[in-house]
This record gives sequence, C-alpha cells and structure tokens, in this order.
Amino acid sequence: MTLKEKIIRKSAKIGIMGLGYTGLPLAVEFSKAGFDVTGIEIDKDKVRMINQGKCYIRDVKQSELEELVKNNRLEATVDFSVLKKMDAISICVPTPLRKTKDPDISYILNAVEEIAKNLHKGQLIVLESTTYPGTTREIVLPKLASKKFLVGKDFYLAFSPERTDPGNKEYTLRSTPKIVSGITKKCTSIAVTLYEQIIDEVVPVSTTESAEMVKLLENTFRIVNVGLINEIALICDRLKLDTWEVIDAAATKPFGFMPFYPGPGLGGHCVPVDPHYLSWKLKALNFYARFIELAGEINIKMPEFLLSKIDAALNERKKSIKGSKILILGVAYKSNVSDARESPALDVMRLLKERGGKVVYNDPYVPQVEGLKSIHLTRSSLKNADCVVITTAHSDYDYKEIVENARLIIDSRNATKEIKSKKIIKL
Ligand SMILES: NC(=O)c1ccc[n+]([C@@H]2O[C@H](COP(=O)([O-])OP(=O)(O)OC[C@H]3O[C@@H](n4cnc5c(N)ncnc54)[C@H](O)[C@@H]3O)[C@@H](O)[C@H]2O)c1
Repeated sequence: MTLKEKIIRKSAKIGIMGLGYTGLPLAVEFSKAGFDVTGIEIDKDKVRMINQGKCYIRDVKQSELEELVKNNRLEATVDFSVLKKMDAISICVPTPLRKTKDPDISYILNAVEEIAKNLHKGQLIVLESTTYPGTTREIVLPKLASKKFLVGKDFYLAFSPERTDPGNKEYTLRSTPKIVSGITKKCTSIAVTLYEQIIDEVVPVSTTESAEMVKLLENTFRIVNVGLINEIALICDRLKLDTWEVIDAAATKPFGFMPFYPGPGLGGHCVPVDPHYLSWKLKALNFYARFIELAGEINIKMPEFLLSKIDAALNERKKSIKGSKILILGVAYKSNVSDARESPALDVMRLLKERGGKVVYNDPYVPQVEGLKSIHLTRSSLKNADCVVITTAHSDYDYKEIVENARLIIDSRNATKEIKSKKIIKL
C-alpha cells in the first residue's frame, strides 16, 4: 500500500516531535481523526503527563486527551527509536533566538538527526517550526537525502508552517487554512493529503521557501503594525490625545483600515521572534530589513514608556516608584492564555523593581513567574497597592471592581474602556 493510501485509510502511523503549544494540539487532532499518534518529546514530565491522560495546554480539552490516551490512539515517549515505525512525522520543536538575536535552529537539527537515524522508505517528514526561507531545502534535506536515498522517490519532505493562535475560540486548528509545500511535486501532494485529513482547507504553494516565507510575512505584518500603532500611541501622548478614541474612530471606516492596538510591548514566542529570522537571512544577502528592525526598536521601548506613565502618575500623588506597592495585573503575553514567554509585563516588572518598586502580581492563568507567585486578587490587595498596572487584559477580571477598589490604575490595554474614573491613566 502506498503512503497516500495509508493516509486516506487512516492506517498511517503519525509521529509528532515536540509536544508543546503547537505539537500537542496537532497530535490530538490527528488522533481524533482516527490515526494512531505517537508524540516524541525530550521533556520527561510532558511524556508522563500525556501517558497519564493529563493535559497541560489550555487549548486542548482534558476530556478529549484522556479519552484518546485511554483508547490507545495517542501516546508519548522519549524514545526516538519509535521514529522508524512512523509513516509521517511532523516536527514542532522550538525555534528561539540566541542572545545576539540570531536564529537558533539547534532544536530542528537535533530532531532531524534523530529522524535520519531512523529514516525508512516511504516516510514523509514535515517541518512545522517557524524558520527562515531555505531551512527545509538547505539544512534539513542534506541531512536526510543521499545518492541512494532520493527525496520524492524514497522519502518525502515538506514544510508546513504552524498557525496556532493560542486562546482563539473562533479559529481552530481545523478551521485555519494550512499552507503546504514539498521539495518535489510528489512530496507536496502527499503532505497535502496528510493535512486534508484534519484541516478544512489546505493551500499548496510552489516551493518550501515560499511556504517558509508565508509564515514570516504573517508575523512581520503583525510586528510592523504593532510597531506603527505603538508609535501612534507615543505621538498621541505628545499631542495629549486619547489614542484609543482615535483608533476606535478610525476603525469605523469599513475599508482600507484594520485596527491594531498599542500596549506595554510585544510578547509571545512568535511575533517578536520570527521576523528576526528573516532579517538575519537577509543580512547575508546584503539586504537590511528596515521595517522589521524599526518596529522592533519601537516595540522594545514600550515597557519604558509605560514606566514613565507610572512614574508620572505616582509623582502627581507625591509618591515615587521607589518604595511604592505596585500590583501588576496580567503577566501572560496576551489575554486569556497562560504563556508568559517574552511577555512585556515581565520587562515592566523588572524595570519597576530596578527602580525600587515593591512589585507583586496577579494572573489567573500564570501561578508563578520569575520567582514570584501570583497573589490573590481581593479588595484589600487592590486597596493596599499604591498603583495597579493592567498589563494584560484577561477577560476574567472584573474591571469595575478593580477601579472601585484601587487607588490609581495605569491601564496599558484600554481594559477599563467602559469605566469613567479620574483614577484611571491610559497608555
Ligand atoms: N506557540 C505558538 O503560538 C506558535 C504559533 C505558530 C508557530 N509556532 C512555532 O512552532 C514551533 C514550536 O513552538 P511551540 O510554541 O509549540 O514550542 P514549545 O516550547 O511549546 O514546544 C516545543 C516542544 O519541543 C520539545 N523538543 C525540543 N527539542 C526536541 C527534540 N529534539 N525532539 C522532540 N521534542 C523536542 C520541547 O521539549 C517542547 O516541549 C516554533 O517554531 C514556533 O515558532 C508557535
């Protein structure tokens, strides 16, 4: 039986490397569709939790995961030798930046080395991790192919970028179109068939480089627009205008405008990181990606701008940051998620501590971060704080109650939009 037939009959064995924010939902979706799925993960705790049917990612339903594990549709292992039993393998490992802001593709390299040791005829390998154009062909392919083992004939290789949006209730993995491209036409065709089993619309593009670039365009679009709107916030501040009113009014235009909103900076694992993969690649081609660099410069300054707002508001009340009790609300990088990676709230907390502020935080989704534990949000914790700073607008918060009890609120997300009070200072 060919691999395509195995996929259509759901008898193909699927391996997912990396069971994090993107890999676990993908593994669950394949196994819900009727495939036997094995997650290959280096983190023993995650493997143990999956095999006990315990979920650690909010977007995956605990009951669904439990059911799939109980019915032997989904299992996890730290043993890479299972790769040889797999018919199709998706790689969902991290692609962070080094301190120098250069891409760190070491996780991809490690994963591909393990695949190479276990590669067999007829296997499909799909890289899903976000990376710079050229990675699949220039880095991954040479590690797998040889004169005797040809891509498109003996095995298949494709790139298909992850488009997960954690916390998004409207667009799920299934309802978000998926971009796919293989090294050869046959690779594309098999990878398209694979993803068609779990995704409503699969969009093939002509090359793996194009597919890699699609993801970077999407994230560059966000970083640049967030940078622009953050600069508009700085401009409105100088002009003593209400940024939020200006944006909301502009957004009434039914065409040609798309609202973005300012905030304390840019967070998350993807948007602040991925465009640097592109600018790094372009530097090698003597091209300086100005929009990306400029947006990065503006976004990185936003925590300091928020700090200046806190400083001025306390000063107005004859107080200084030094010695003031400051309660931070929300440390996740965006509302209603538990991921605090690269969150600007952490930068704001660090800056406040450096200035001698007595910083505590509450986040219903993040129980602890950077050596601090989330405190209970009570009337007295609000009343006790010299200043409450809203850094992430979780919808669980009762903003009316917060405004009623806090002495001073610095709202960097317009979460208190519907409430009128002199205690509120907006970004
Ligand atoms: N989180 C998102 O919202 C999101 C959205 C779109 C794209 N992406 C991209 O998807 C990729 C993965 O991101 P993530 O957020 O899922 O990361 P993550 O850190 O949540 O998960 C990655 C997992 O891979 C595991 N891992 C590392 N090396 C491994 C190896 N050699 N073999 C097996 N497992 C290994 C890690 O232990 C971790 O559990 C990145 O390239 C990211 O840019 C993420």
